[in-house]
Amino acid sequence: MICAGLAIVAWLAQAKGRVWLARSTLGVLTAATVYAGHQGASLTHGPGVTAWREARAPVVVKAAQVKPGAEAVAGSVFEKEIQPLLQRSCIDCHGPDKARGRLRLDSREAVLAGGKSRLPSITPGKPEASELLRRVKLPRDDEDAMPPEDEPGLTAEEIAALEKWIAGGAVWH
Ligand code: HEC
Repeated sequence: MICAGLAIVAWLAQAKGRVWLARSTLGVLTAATVYAGHQGASLTHGPGVTAWREARAPVVVKAAQVKPGAEAVAGSVFEKEIQPLLQRSCIDCHGPDKARGRLRLDSREAVLAGGKSRLPSITPGKPEASELLRRVKLPRDDEDAMPPEDEPGLTAEEIAALEKWIAGGAVWH
C-alpha cells in the first residue's frame, strides 16, 4: 500500500516536472521496498531468516517425530514364526508336562540333544540332518509323522519357515 502510494506520488511529480520531489520519493520508495521485502521474508520464514547461519542450520529431527516401537514390531523370525508354531503344535507332547519320545522342544539345548532315537532333532545350518524337519515333512499317514496323524499337521508355509530357520542356524531368541 505505502509503496503503491509513493510510486503514484513519484509518477505525478515527474509528470509535473518536479524532478527533486520525484527523485526523493523514489529514494523513499526503494527503502520501503527493501524493508517490506524483509518483513515479508520474516512472515513466511520466521524471524532471523536473514541471518545465514540460522538459515543453514541443519534440520534436527525431534525424537518424537520418529515412529515409536519400530523395532518391537519387527521382532525376530524365531519369536514371530517358530516359537508360536512349536507352542501350538508340539509343546503339549514335547514340553514340561510330557516328553513324548523323550524329547522336549522348549529349549535349544533340549532340541539339539534330541529324543530316544538319539538323532539330533535339529542340526543348525543343516535342515537335511534335522530329524524334526524330516518328521514334519513326512506324509500325514506315515507312522513317524509329526504331529501324529490325529493332530492337525503343519502347513506348507510353516514347514518352509522351519526349514529356513534351521538353515539360518536355528537362532533361539
Ligand atoms: C499328540 C502328541 C504329539 C505331538 C502334538 C507331537 N509329537 Fe512328536 N512325538 C510324539 C510321540 C509319542 C513320539 C515318540 C514316538 C515316535 O518316535 O514316533 C514323538 C517323537 C518325536 C520326534 C522324535 C524324537 C526322537 O529323537 O526319538 C520328533 C523329532 C518329534 N516328535 C517332533 C515333533 C514336532 C516338531 C512336533 C510339532 C510340530 C511334534 N513332535 C508334535 C508325540 C507328539
